[in-house]
Amino acid sequence: MADPHLVVVDDAASLARAGADVVADVIRADGPVTIVPATGETPVGMYAELAAVRARGDLEAGAVSIVQLDEYLGLEPGDRRALFGWMDRTVLQPLAIDDSRVMRLPTDGDVDAACAAFDRDLGARGAIDLAILGLGTNGHLGFNEPPSDAASVTRAVDLTPDTIAANARYWGGEDDVPTRAVTLGLHTLLGARSILLLVSGASKHAIVRRALEGPVGEDVPASFLRTAQGAVTVLVDRAAWEGA
Ligand code: PGA
Repeated sequence: MADPHLVVVDDAASLARAGADVVADVIRADGPVTIVPATGETPVGMYAELAAVRARGDLEAGAVSIVQLDEYLGLEPGDRRALFGWMDRTVLQPLAIDDSRVMRLPTDGDVDAACAAFDRDLGARGAIDLAILGLGTNGHLGFNEPPSDAASVTRAVDLTPDTIAANARYWGGEDDVPTRAVTLGLHTLLGARSILLLVSGASKHAIVRRALEGPVGEDVPASFLRTAQGAVTVLVDRAAWEGA
């Protein structure tokens, strides 16, 4: 366990480029790699950068396997709000990663039992090589809402009012944001060989400081990154780090 490696860059465009370099290095490693890609606004520029590198012929992602980080519950098939669709548009299609290489979170039937089976399957595959994460304004990673402890497993969760308010901008209003979700647990995320946390914009200033400088504990799930097993890189733009 080592302290997170903090990298402060000028702006969102620099964040996208610096993040893409980290991800491309993992993808270019010999042999198959397993990546957890966050959805959300923050990594979108980085994924576009990776797609551009691939379009130039400088990146081949055919040996990449993907594990879904989080998903809303209670959606009908084809619902525009599904995070799988977001991941498909921003990661899978641009990088030409086939659906067959994706471990998709369970959303039907007995979700808790299916999540336990999911964790067993995931454990049998070995560690995740890279978890790409965003930071919620409430300190969540994936949908590990506060309070979430470091041993938390893949599970169904109720979204907090903070998260529902923050995600309203994507779906047209708070009433349109689903209230339940399923998320990889912190236990899985913290066991990844490497973690890349992306933080952009002044709205994340207070929480990124709390996560990296405040007490480590379940009220700020991202603070557990300071206890992660693998290498943690925190890539922050100046607006988020300085708060202006
Ligand atoms: P954002 O979401 O990248 O859309 O700000 C981050 C998160 O809620 O994890």
